[in-house]
Amino acid sequence: MQLSSLVYLLSAVLVTVSQDVSITAVERAFRAANIPTDLNIVFQPTALLEVSLPQASGPPIRLHAGIQVPRNDTAGPPSFNVVGNVGRGPFVVATVDPDAPTPQDPTEAQIRHFLGGNFLNEGGKLVNSTPAISEFLQPTPPAGSDAHRYIFLLFDQSPQFATQTLVNSSTSIASFNISQFATAVNLGNPIAGTFMLVAPPSS
Ligand SMILES: *[C@@H]1O[C@H](CO)[C@@H](O)[C@H](O)[C@H]1NC(C)=O
Ligand SMILES: *[C@@H]1O[C@H](CO)[C@@H](O)[C@H](O)[C@H]1NC(C)=O
Ligand SMILES: *[C@@H]1O[C@H](CO)[C@@H](O)[C@H](O)[C@H]1NC(C)=O
Repeated sequence: MQLSSLVYLLSAVLVTVSQDVSITAVERAFRAANIPTDLNIVFQPTALLEVSLPQASGPPIRLHAGIQVPRNDTAGPPSFNVVGNVGRGPFVVATVDPDAPTPQDPTEAQIRHFLGGNFLNEGGKLVNSTPAISEFLQPTPPAGSDAHRYIFLLFDQSPQFATQTLVNSSTSIASFNISQFATAVNLGNPIAGTFMLVAPPSS
């Protein structure tokens, strides 16, 4: 076996087993990345949200909080699992980028990269029975930008979510505000989350 394929194999194995395993570690990573402050959220998770990005070849990439993922590996769409005693749902999953166009000057933030409801907990797998409001949009940090944070949050779904008219599939994905949205539709605080860093492809 060539060294390059050995390295590839090893990194694939490492990536495969690297999902979040500790709620405390996730909370710490969110704080270290200043996410609760930047998103205006209270983040005291009671469960783990597992996010898997399918790959053209090889196993999916499973996120752990703060992992840097090459942009080309983020096409998705991601699949979601929950670990913890959270009941059957329904749940809402939201993904936002608070760093657009750059972390230093996020004038377009937040970008809504995913917003979907009616996820049910099927033995840990989160299965949505309806189309998402915003289907997953691959990260596209602009050339020259530092890496952006792409933050996945899991909420218990409120009755108000089903009848909300704030956001639909034709609403601009820019200038979204997850804390404002969560307050408006009574989602409460997120019960789980994780995040990845994605930089523009190096040219
Ligand atoms: C990423 O994908 C683009 C287009 O699919 C390709 O041109 C480029 O070579 C890829 N870069 C890497 C580092 O794989
Ligand atoms: C989306 O919401 C806007 C603003 O409330 C509304 O004008 C538009 O008709 C809605 N579009 C769809 C597809 O529901
Ligand atoms: C989002 O909304 C909250 C209120 O829920 C507000 O405090 C905060 O400044 C808003 N963030 C942005 C980036 O506009």
